[in-house]
Amino acid sequence: MMRPCGGIFAVVFLMIIIITSKKLVSGVDGCDVFTGSWVFDKTYPLYDSSTCPFIEHEFNCQRNGRTDRLYEKYRWRPSRCNLTRFNGGDFLERMRGQKMMFVGDSLSKNQWESLICMLYHGAPQANFTLTRGDPLSTLTVPNFRWDYIQIGHKFYKDMSRLAAFEIALVTWARWVDSNIDPNKTKVFFQGISPSHYNGSEWNKPNVKTCLVEKEPIPGSRYAGGSPPALSVLKKVLKTLRKPVQLLDVTTLSQLRKDGHPSMYGFGGPKAMDCSHWCLPGVTDTWNQLLYNALIS
Ligand SMILES: *[C@@H]1O[C@H](CO)[C@@H](O)[C@H](O)[C@H]1NC(C)=O
Ligand SMILES: *[C@@H]1O[C@H](CO)[C@@H](O)[C@H](O)[C@H]1NC(C)=O
Ligand SMILES: *[C@@H]1O[C@H](CO)[C@@H](O)[C@H](O)[C@H]1NC(C)=O
Ligand SMILES: *[C@@H]1O[C@H](CO)[C@@H](O)[C@H](O)[C@H]1NC(C)=O
Repeated sequence: MMRPCGGIFAVVFLMIIIITSKKLVSGVDGCDVFTGSWVFDKTYPLYDSSTCPFIEHEFNCQRNGRTDRLYEKYRWRPSRCNLTRFNGGDFLERMRGQKMMFVGDSLSKNQWESLICMLYHGAPQANFTLTRGDPLSTLTVPNFRWDYIQIGHKFYKDMSRLAAFEIALVTWARWVDSNIDPNKTKVFFQGISPSHYNGSEWNKPNVKTCLVEKEPIPGSRYAGGSPPALSVLKKVLKTLRKPVQLLDVTTLSQLRKDGHPSMYGFGGPKAMDCSHWCLPGVTDTWNQLLYNALIS
């Protein structure tokens, strides 16, 4: 059900809203943190899937039988600067008394669970209470008076429906322009999350899944190019009057053909999942980039 049929790529609609009482600066010191490459780092992953109680079945690749672990050991290294390592305690401290909302689909949930695990690992003594619901799940961290909300709804489009995606984005952009007070709220838009069903995009023309992939693509370039949905997104973001920061994770995620659950996801071998991401994994880096955007 999650595999996009025909068009072979999934578009994620993912927005992060932070309701804040403080002035949050944005921008990452003029360095393009989204251009770089993946490097092996023996200190990774940042948490272990067996010790994080919040990972749902579909993202827990190790528990679902995936035996290789190399994919957990890559760190994103921007070409021209270094990222600050994620610090869960510091993240919670900065978010004290504030609210954060993830608005999006199952990929948004993917990133949200990753963030909870990273925080849990950084501050296990904080009494985390997770209330799961549909469409709203809430994480409360009482010691920090901090709420975490996710609204999930499926939003998969194939290429022939790019126009529908654009209409949805424009509607969203209008909502932001008329409802967001930039003095109180900071909005991030998470780019497009790529899937890997078309081997031509990584020089394996006969391959139609990510199943045997165990390593990232070296270097900074993805042969498949940029997904058309990303140009639609950038075009719509330009029309916004309110400041919205794009966390442009598309290219760095495209390089991670090894990071998907494949047959170790929600439906086993019958439902090849090359859209979502194993936890720990790629979405941890999205959160590290979010953290860097918040502290810069
Ligand atoms: C990034 O970190 C490496 C290793 O710690 C260091 O050699 C390099 O100079 C740093 N680069 C920048 C741009 O700060
Ligand atoms: C954790 O939070 C729950 C719900 O708010 C509460 O019932 C429980 O007593 C708390 N536990 C600790 C150790 O603070
Ligand atoms: C936001 O704050 C600035 C400076 O404090 C103020 O001039 C401006 O009117 C405020 N905007 C809104 C929408 O309240
Ligand atoms: C797979 O990718 C190649 C190269 O980017 C492209 O030409 C081809 O149309 C794609 N196939 C499908 C089924 O989307």
